[in-house]
Amino acid sequence: MGLSKTIFSNPTEFLTREQPDDPVLFFAPMVLQATAKRFLTGFPGLVTYAVKSNPDEMVVANLAAAGIRGYDVASIFEIDLIRRIAPGAAMHYNNPVRSRSEIARAVELGVTSFSVDSHSELTKLHEIVPAGAEIAVRFKLPVNGAAYNFGAKFGATAEKATELLKAAQDMGFVASLTFHPGTQCTDPMAWDAYIRTAARIADDAGVRISRLNVGGGFPSHRLNDVAPELETIFALIDRVAGEAFGEERPDLVCEPGRGLVAESYSLSTQVRAIRDDEHVFLNDGVYGGLAELPLIGIIDRVEVRSPEGEHRTGEGTGRIVFGPTCDSVDRLPGELVLPGDMIEGDHVIFHGLGAYSTATVTRFNGFGNFQIVTVMALH
Ligand SMILES: Cc1ncc(COP(=O)(O)O)c(C=O)c1O
Repeated sequence: MGLSKTIFSNPTEFLTREQPDDPVLFFAPMVLQATAKRFLTGFPGLVTYAVKSNPDEMVVANLAAAGIRGYDVASIFEIDLIRRIAPGAAMHYNNPVRSRSEIARAVELGVTSFSVDSHSELTKLHEIVPAGAEIAVRFKLPVNGAAYNFGAKFGATAEKATELLKAAQDMGFVASLTFHPGTQCTDPMAWDAYIRTAARIADDAGVRISRLNVGGGFPSHRLNDVAPELETIFALIDRVAGEAFGEERPDLVCEPGRGLVAESYSLSTQVRAIRDDEHVFLNDGVYGGLAELPLIGIIDRVEVRSPEGEHRTGEGTGRIVFGPTCDSVDRLPGELVLPGDMIEGDHVIFHGLGAYSTATVTRFNGFGNFQIVTVMALH
């Protein structure tokens, strides 16, 4: 993957001029900065960025320029990246399971905030991390609203979180709470349930928490008919934190990945074949930039253009869409509605694909050769 030296006005200008054979990710820094401003203005606390969702250096540099001063990091690679691109920014090591050597290295690199969801990992942290650091106990609830269940891997039950919070404070750490309602969480009430439970956990533990991290999970715009309601979620978080904690309201932190970065990238694929007027084969699929679709569903914010840049507007037809590899699971979920006048060689551009796209591309079957092109606008 490489970054173009030129800035194009939009994807169509690049596609008509360069006629690329491989998929292209178009990155609009102005869209990213505008989304960052939306979070910085609307969220009632510290906005941090979950680096895992898109660790491109240009993304981090633009977020830092927009005023993002904290980062959720999950590995030593991500910590090194932030130290290089956004020196001085806060780093929250919120992957609750780490090796001893990773913990020691993180301490050396200046990390002073760690999440935890088990006694065994808290003991490890206690052995290596100096007292005075922040330990954020991650808890989970069986609530719906997200694209899939994040609690299956991480998060203590409320009972265990109560014990951990108390233990962390007794060890001399600054005790906080954290949760993640699940990615692409479109139901604001998920945050309501989590924040009220956080207040109960703190109360039961007899601990006044320093901060409450309300996670990522903020939704991006994936379906034409469902616009994300970020401001509604921000307002609810603010109100419920006040109601639940009263005088003991902690400082709030959020750590969006998808909600911050998704809208600033579009992925352009090309139609390699329409097999006997039926199945569509693209030059990218679930082993590439579209990896997430089987997990969290189709994106219908799609635009189709001829190689000359003409917008295909024929009546939409539901199509089965395959990626380029020989694996039969390399198929987009369900059917994608595509214009009836689309032909081989056309570009199918998926909007809102900045999160968990570049980050997880594989080279399976020899595909996955992307370039990232900077554009002024994505439409
Ligand atoms: C601890 C943590 N914070 C934040 C995020 C970002 O989530 P999202 O991209 O849904 O905002 C993740 C995603 O896995 C995570 O594990």
